[in-house]
Amino acid sequence: MDHARTPTTRDGIRLHAPGDFDGMRRAGEAAARILDDIGEHVFPGQSTATIDRIITDMVNHRGLTSATIGYRGYRHASCISVNHVVCHGIPGDKSLRDGDILNIDVTVILDGWFGDTSRMYVAGNLSRKAERLIAVTHESLMRGIEAARPGNTFGDIGHAIQSFVEGQRMSVVRDFCGHGLGRTFHAPPNVLHYGRSGTGPVLEEGMFFTIEPMVNLGRPETKVLADDWTAVTRDKSLSAQYEHSIGITADGCEIFTPSPAGRFYTF
Ligand code: MF3
Ligand code: CO
Ligand code: CO
Repeated sequence: MDHARTPTTRDGIRLHAPGDFDGMRRAGEAAARILDDIGEHVFPGQSTATIDRIITDMVNHRGLTSATIGYRGYRHASCISVNHVVCHGIPGDKSLRDGDILNIDVTVILDGWFGDTSRMYVAGNLSRKAERLIAVTHESLMRGIEAARPGNTFGDIGHAIQSFVEGQRMSVVRDFCGHGLGRTFHAPPNVLHYGRSGTGPVLEEGMFFTIEPMVNLGRPETKVLADDWTAVTRDKSLSAQYEHSIGITADGCEIFTPSPAGRFYTF
């Protein structure tokens, strides 16, 4: 048996080789660049179907493959989740209105590696309460990423996110989580955005996964609509999400999906 080629896992989580980081870096950058470039196409009157078509064209013209088209019957290159839609919003013909906030989530495949990232956008003018929700959601993701280093546990990541969000009197969605990825879209473990410090698997160099907290202004409960995809807040409160793909390094983590244009927010 060739041990160098034997997949290495810990707690069922794949430990990638140092040479695998470059593939993720390139896939992540391609996904993040699409999020940079789509910003100018978000405005009142625009439909989310048109935004998705522009994303599809970017994917195709850049020699990428969409990971979501054909995934479990999903038919679009992005998920676009507006206002009280928590995640997995299906692009459609309805026009955006002034003040709508939306998450755009793109996953692309480049040379077999998956880059998965999402950010918040606004159509027109941003209300104060939406601005605060978006800022808290982004900050919660970055606090989760700061907890992502060897020796810490997945529970430390969840705790960092949950304690910050609840301290701001907002709530963390429990019904959806981050995930391992790499040469596959969704792999172990489930990356929970809530939890207790010191619980769960220990992080090790070479683990690749997403952190993608969904934060609600109201209660955390969600429901999935009859289309079997669209997840909404049960209380119809506003919801926001940010997502990065990261890899655990010897002394911390590398974010594979930073904005090439240097944007945190896309507005
Ligand atoms: N990109 C999403 C995630 O963060 C998954 C979308 S699956 C789809 O995991 F089929 F809805 F596109
Ligand atoms: Co994801
Ligand atoms: Co995603």
